Amino acid sequence: METILVLDRVSKRFGGLQAVDDVFLEVNAGQILGIIGPNGAGKSTLFNIICGIYHPDKGRISFKEKFIKKLMPHQICRMGIGRTFQISEVFESLTALESVTLAASLHLPLKEARRQAYTILDQFGLADKAELRCESLTPVDIKLIELSKALATSPEVILLDEVMTSLSRVEAEPLLNIIKNLPHEGITPIIVEHSMHIIQDCCQRVIVLNFGRLIADGTSDEVLSDRTVIDSYLGVKPTCL
Ligand SMILES: Nc1ncnc2c1ncn2[C@@H]1O[C@H](COP(=O)(O)OP(=O)(O)OP(=O)(O)O)[C@@H](O)[C@H]1O
Ligand SMILES: [Mg+2]
Repeated sequence: METILVLDRVSKRFGGLQAVDDVFLEVNAGQILGIIGPNGAGKSTLFNIICGIYHPDKGRISFKEKFIKKLMPHQICRMGIGRTFQISEVFESLTALESVTLAASLHLPLKEARRQAYTILDQFGLADKAELRCESLTPVDIKLIELSKALATSPEVILLDEVMTSLSRVEAEPLLNIIKNLPHEGITPIIVEHSMHIIQDCCQRVIVLNFGRLIADGTSDEVLSDRTVIDSYLGVKPTCL
């Protein structure tokens, strides 16, 4: 299996707090990777390091065999790493179409960006809401817009930070189906979620962070049954196994 992204012994400290500690990770193209771990384990920080919001103190990151550690977020995004944010970052006064067009305009002229944005919204069943302002959309629609924006940048790797958190299982279903289909479209999703049902349902591989350290790596069954993972994070073996 082809490796698309490599984190080579990456660390990040905030003052006295070691948020990410010596993480080595090779991400396989075309496989959904899940990242789990307790609150404050360093999951979002790891995403912020990959997409250039933070520079790591130590270690190297390569995407398609090019080092990206020193690049700016927009450069990394243009190279093919898209992301959503844990706290939705939509501009409330923009329409759904304008929001997604803005993201697509990172790599396309405006007219084509608008066309691509509309195509994505249409695929996600949001065509009839394209002209609505984001402030009037439901929480599920906002999450779909977040995902649409990330996909509009034409990523090859997409970092999804709790994109289904706070949604019910029924509400999460359309997002889950979109995410599961991404590898068939040549996109490698890396997802952070606290729901073990979601992780179990869609991830071929799962890694676990605890105090910034990678403490487990394997299939979801292996990782969710791992004694260290149960003791440090899960408390009990999840019922979905
Ligand atoms: N910019 C920052 N400045 C200082 N500390 C930070 C900063 N960003 C994150 N941290 C700290 O780093 C640690 C890891 O935070 P991070 O947001 O990566 O955790 P997380 O695994 O995403 O948690 P959650 O599941 O709650 O989202 C936490 O202790 C957090 O308070
Ligand atoms: Mg987080």
